[in-house]
Amino acid sequence: MHKRIFVFENIGEILTLNGAQLKGGRRINEADLSIINNGVMACADGRIVWIGSQDKFNLKDLQSWGDHKKAQFIDLKGKSVLPGFVECHTHLVFAGNRSHEFEWRMQGQTYQEIAAKGGGILSTVKDTRKASFSDLLNLAQKRTQRFVDQGVTCLEVKSGYGLDLNTEIKCLQVAGALSGPRIVRTYLGAHARSPDYPDLKEYNRVMLNEILPQIAAEKYAERVDIYIEKGFFDLELAREYLQKASQLGLHIVAHSDQLSDFGGTDLALEFSPQSVDHAVYVNDRTIQRLSQSGTVGVLLPASDFYLKMRYPPARAMIEAGVCVAISTDFNPGTSPTQDLSFVGLLARMEMKMTLAEVICAYTFGAAKALGKSQDCGSLDVGKYCDFSVLNGSWQELFYSVGHHPVEAVYRSGERIDVKE
Ligand code: NIG
Ligand code: FE
Repeated sequence: MHKRIFVFENIGEILTLNGAQLKGGRRINEADLSIINNGVMACADGRIVWIGSQDKFNLKDLQSWGDHKKAQFIDLKGKSVLPGFVECHTHLVFAGNRSHEFEWRMQGQTYQEIAAKGGGILSTVKDTRKASFSDLLNLAQKRTQRFVDQGVTCLEVKSGYGLDLNTEIKCLQVAGALSGPRIVRTYLGAHARSPDYPDLKEYNRVMLNEILPQIAAEKYAERVDIYIEKGFFDLELAREYLQKASQLGLHIVAHSDQLSDFGGTDLALEFSPQSVDHAVYVNDRTIQRLSQSGTVGVLLPASDFYLKMRYPPARAMIEAGVCVAISTDFNPGTSPTQDLSFVGLLARMEMKMTLAEVICAYTFGAAKALGKSQDCGSLDVGKYCDFSVLNGSWQELFYSVGHHPVEAVYRSGERIDVKE
């Protein structure tokens, strides 16, 4: 055995989230953070092999994990550690920006009005089609590092600003070429009507017959997403698209009930999606259904903030037993921010989530939303050794906009942050 061993010692507090893991992310309270005081965490070849309190740690155990003579010991000087954050909903790969539209919105035009006259998503599609692979990769890599430096170790990346086969593939390949965190790729061809097809039905047919089969065969993405909303994809088109994606063995996720109670979440639930995202207008009956399912409710309060909308019924969802996640929804239109602190703060202030719920939503809940909760989202033996070291107490998380009390970020036991 020649496994690489790292032993992280002298950890003041480890928020393992073990309790959250055991409860499947449902009805979380502070005890579910499962904090170990004065802890040690060891990993071999990137996975946790031991975690517990310092006084129970026995150096002799090292021998059973691998090449113990080469084990590296890292003193974390009494700091706090928690699982790496999982950003489970981003539109990271795009060119240009939509600052001009933001001003129009501030002057009274709605998101839907701007979209209907060819702005919105289609304006970013124009810029993204023109951009080269390397330009897109440069932009996306910088954005990725910005996430990592805030503690993100697993990042979901959607396509959806190509709306033709080549550009969608280009964007998914950019996502695949990113370095730093673990990447989960999601095909979002059904984001808006492609400018190449006057008829949305025709575009849907092209996705079903030509694009989705290639995405699945070439493994350009693991998951498929769709924007189900009035003026975008209706329930009938969404059903055909999701049916095809499921038949092809792709995981399902949906933007649903973002701008109206359109029935998108109910429809998506027919396909056992990994998550339903936004859920601002989700009704009580659907919340009940959601709570009985293994699907995660992904809440995206920064986009609600930017659209000056109401916020999703987070308390009702949590109390019904839904596992919730939160994410930035980073995109140039509805959520031009990558600030995790801001998102968590909105979750606390506007969605009335407790700090423990927010921490779970950004770790275990988000990992579950990506189908990765066996590997990520809590610090347990067998999981990846992906974590952040804080430079203050964990109570300072999601407290100060723009401030991220994260000092170092590790993936598989190795540093991935780049601090100036
Ligand atoms: O999650 N709702 C659809 N998609 C994005 C917005 C994309 C855009 O406006 O560019 C969202 O809010
Ligand atoms: Fe989104």
